[in-house]
Amino acid sequence: MTRQPISLAHALASFSDRWSPRIVTTVNDYDVRIAKVEGDHVWHVHDHTDEFFLVLDGELRIGLREPDGERTITLPKGSVFTVPRGIEHKPYAPVPTAIMLFEPTGTLTVGDRHDEVPGHVDATTGHALGGLPVRDDTLEA
Ligand code: NI
Repeated sequence: MTRQPISLAHALASFSDRWSPRIVTTVNDYDVRIAKVEGDHVWHVHDHTDEFFLVLDGELRIGLREPDGERTITLPKGSVFTVPRGIEHKPYAPVPTAIMLFEPTGTLTVGDRHDEVPGHVDATTGHALGGLPVRDDTLEA
């Protein structure tokens, strides 16, 4: 883990894959991950952990299959939401969107159970950030 500050703007600019989270730092045994997303993810469930979402840019929608029925929530930029453990969910982004996730290290993006994973979704526990500039003298918003 780097001991230097990390610019989220630079971190987001360092990759272009969709639905393929990068681990920007860790907090105890949790990862702070960022991802660029667009279109559909896949219905899946994490049996043993909640999953925290923060929308950095764009808009995220999350389909939720709860005990009393199915609904979709909309998270504009700047919104947070925690999907409880055991709740089947499917993120969807109608426009190019950037999100931050907070979840235990080793959490798989497609959960413990999932529908068939489409080719554009990366089934991963997160990738390391790479190629970040050491200096950060060009940070803008
Ligand atoms: Ni999930």
